[in-house]
Amino acid sequence: MGKRWRYKLLTCFAVAGLITFVAVLVFNRTPLPKKTPTPKELYDVISPSTYRFILNQPELCEKKSPFLVLMIPVTLKDTEARTAIRRTWGQDGLSPRVTVLHLFVIGQPAQSDPVLQEHLERESKEFGDIIQMDFVDSYHNLTIKTMMIMNWIATYCQGAWYAMKIDADIFLNVRYLVDYLLDQGESSRKDYICGSVISDAVPHRDTFNKWYISEDLYPDTWYPPYVSGAAYVFSTDLARKISWASRFVRPIPLEDVYVGLCLHILGVKPMYATTFLGLGNLFEVRRLKYERCTFAKRIIVNGFNPQNLVRIWHDFKKSYFTC
Ligand SMILES: *[C@@H]1O[C@H](CO)[C@@H](O)[C@H](O)[C@H]1NC(C)=O
Repeated sequence: MGKRWRYKLLTCFAVAGLITFVAVLVFNRTPLPKKTPTPKELYDVISPSTYRFILNQPELCEKKSPFLVLMIPVTLKDTEARTAIRRTWGQDGLSPRVTVLHLFVIGQPAQSDPVLQEHLERESKEFGDIIQMDFVDSYHNLTIKTMMIMNWIATYCQGAWYAMKIDADIFLNVRYLVDYLLDQGESSRKDYICGSVISDAVPHRDTFNKWYISEDLYPDTWYPPYVSGAAYVFSTDLARKISWASRFVRPIPLEDVYVGLCLHILGVKPMYATTFLGLGNLFEVRRLKYERCTFAKRIIVNGFNPQNLVRIWHDFKKSYFTC
């Protein structure tokens, strides 16, 4: 073989090597898990096509073009919590910069209650902030409710920038949250989900645990990172993507882990929200003694009943001028 040929052959090998190297870098950054569709009878449990609306607000987002929509799971009987939220962090006009809407998301009680249901329908007419679907409301069924929230955003509210899933027993600092989101810039407009991230959880196998899950239902020995279900905020494009991913994730009764499993399918990593130096968690999922200027520097704080929420709100409003 002549020198020239040897040189050409070497160049060929070098180029092929380089192409392989680049291809591995580009395509193999985060190997996504294998996607196997869930059997139909299992997917049907969380599929939006299984359930019907009893109360809906299909035109709300079109009319109001919100920046952020707060989706609050409650049950039929939680009238007091709904009232407290409307008087505190659910009220209009808390952020001077953008429009924030809130919606209560409700199923049905196992035993029908015509009197409360009639109350709810009047409440819905008066406030226009209630969505109700015909699945049975229970702790076990919260995954269904969360997937109905995702589906509602994907169907009726794609124009909003962000949605937040937030429990009724949480204190929310709307103004701080809006400013935080506006500060995040472009990268948080897409594939963005933020809250209190739990990244090293494993399935609980003892039957007395509140979060028990059987090996039959979830055979893996680890959970992917997920955000605590108490409250998390996400760019609205993720609602459609999570709904899509749910076809490949077998339903489990732990709603926040379930969303984490969908994010894992999508290759989306949930984000922590931290204070300036990265030390404090802005999504305070522990209980914290009320102190005006501490709460002014958090997005959420956990553990409030309706009376306490109303009581501290009166004082908290002063933080806009004093902290
Ligand atoms: C969950 O909801 C479904 C659909 O309404 C219902 O058939 C089932 O009994 C509920 N499960 C629990 C544990 O409440």
